[in-house]
Amino acid sequence: MAEDLVIAKGTKEEQYHSVIPQIKALMEGEPDLVANMANVTAALKEQFGWLWVGFYLVKNEELVLGPFQGPVACTRIRKGKGVCGACWQREETVIVEDVEKFPGHIACSSLSKSEIVVPVIRKNKVLAVLDVDSESMSSFDETDKQFLEEIVASIPFN
Ligand code: SME
Repeated sequence: MAEDLVIAKGTKEEQYHSVIPQIKALMEGEPDLVANMANVTAALKEQFGWLWVGFYLVKNEELVLGPFQGPVACTRIRKGKGVCGACWQREETVIVEDVEKFPGHIACSSLSKSEIVVPVIRKNKVLAVLDVDSESMSSFDETDKQFLEEIVASIPFN
């Protein structure tokens, strides 16, 4: 396919329904993990305009910064630390409506107000997390959880 993303307007659901098939098409036939993660973050950033969209990968019992779009970020996060580390430890999606109210939140950017972190799980192991930050409070809900989980499930991950 052409590498131009078609940007949808409308409700959050409509935006996900537009961008998800495009993300899947971009990954089709491409086995390289970094290439696919890079395009996932770019497509989501372009469609939704969030502050930061990126992956942290589990390496040697730490989360290490992977492909992302947005301002520079901290490179390593330990298990249980911050929202990303909590997501890894709990092995489930974490939604934070107000980052200032999340104990231990790691502020990579003072502009971030709310956050969602989705685990990438294969064979019952967390291999990475997808972290999304917004400049607005309460940006993320069950709709984001559902569709972002669908997106990370579709990444070929060996
Ligand atoms: N806020 C995250 C750290 C990563 S940055 O937001 C990119 C956390 O608390 O884990």
